[in-house]
Amino acid sequence: MKKILVTGGFGFIGSTLVEQLLEKSEVAIHVIDNMSTSPLEVPDYLEQIGSPANLTYELVTIEHFFTQNVVPHFDEIYHLAAPVGPAGVLQHAGNMVRDVVRDAYLIVDYCRARGAKLLDVSTSEIYGGGQSGYCPETTPKIVPAVTTVRLEYAIAKLAAETAIINMCRTRDLKATIVRPFNVSGQRQSPKGGFVLPRFIQQATANQPITVFGDGRALRAFTNVKDMASGIILAMDHGANGDAYNVGNPANKTTILDLALRVKVALQSKSEIRFVDPKKIYGELYEEANDKFPDAEKAKEELGWQPKYTIEETIIDAYNEFRRQAGRGTLKDRV
Ligand SMILES: NC(=O)c1ccc[n+]([C@@H]2O[C@H](COP(=O)([O-])OP(=O)(O)OC[C@H]3O[C@@H](n4cnc5c(N)ncnc54)[C@H](O)[C@@H]3O)[C@@H](O)[C@H]2O)c1
Repeated sequence: MKKILVTGGFGFIGSTLVEQLLEKSEVAIHVIDNMSTSPLEVPDYLEQIGSPANLTYELVTIEHFFTQNVVPHFDEIYHLAAPVGPAGVLQHAGNMVRDVVRDAYLIVDYCRARGAKLLDVSTSEIYGGGQSGYCPETTPKIVPAVTTVRLEYAIAKLAAETAIINMCRTRDLKATIVRPFNVSGQRQSPKGGFVLPRFIQQATANQPITVFGDGRALRAFTNVKDMASGIILAMDHGANGDAYNVGNPANKTTILDLALRVKVALQSKSEIRFVDPKKIYGELYEEANDKFPDAEKAKEELGWQPKYTIEETIIDAYNEFRRQAGRGTLKDRV
């Protein structure tokens, strides 16, 4: 029986990752999550996935789990817990470097001492604020001149993954990194500033769909089910101390086009309204650059193949939104 720890396992990506891990036979999964940004109600989620006996959990921080507990044995750790989202990171300004790096070292030290293998979920933001276009893993990491909160998030995640890679090269750590690009689909919360769940809630309520800026920003959205399968493949087949982009370049679209697709898919009467996000989130808010995944390495070395289109991703997100709203378990509204 393989023993697996998932940090942030009740988060947007983590909850789908846990579902997919449970499909494997002979696994015992332990989730730790402090529920700070979890988009789900735990009892509802557990019921949804069939209350599996081989899933246990603790609602604690990473720091608490690794410093206050006698930590049991795990063969593998998927590390996802972190501040996230263009708006979600703002409240962590000034603390992110310390918290993200400290949590990474707590996990790295455990993995080294106990022989566990680590999959660190990093971010495409590590390529930097000056970067637009397709980014293979060979893309230089650009540090822009202006210090922003988004830069702190990128630097914190880059610091953690750099330490992990060097620890693999020079010491006894076994670890692989995944760099997700924009992810969307079931159980994403609008709270972190994520666009698709906001559009779905607005379109469902026939309220104006709020497009930030002029709507021409380009994003390639990867369905969270494809992201979870890429993360598992990277744990199972990724090279030690190496990093893999996971993102679906086929799902490239402008934000205005996404708004129109949501309107059509949900047969909504909503008007589309252009707004300045700084008026909503404040002056510290910053949009990401138009970065797209070059995921050839994950396709060639891991055998990863994304399956889901933008329309399927919209429908997935909508179905789960309706399910949660119907059960009264929808946590975050726009
Ligand atoms: N969503 C995206 O588009 C995207 C893109 C690139 C990278 N990522 C990365 O993927 C990972 C997961 O992101 P997500 O979108 O699922 O976010 P999320 O906020 O839905 O999930 C993170 C989970 O971790 C928990 N958490 C946060 N800090 C914690 C702590 N200190 N201790 C314990 N639990 C804690 C939260 O409650 C939440 O349930 C993050 O590391 C993020 O940087 C996400």
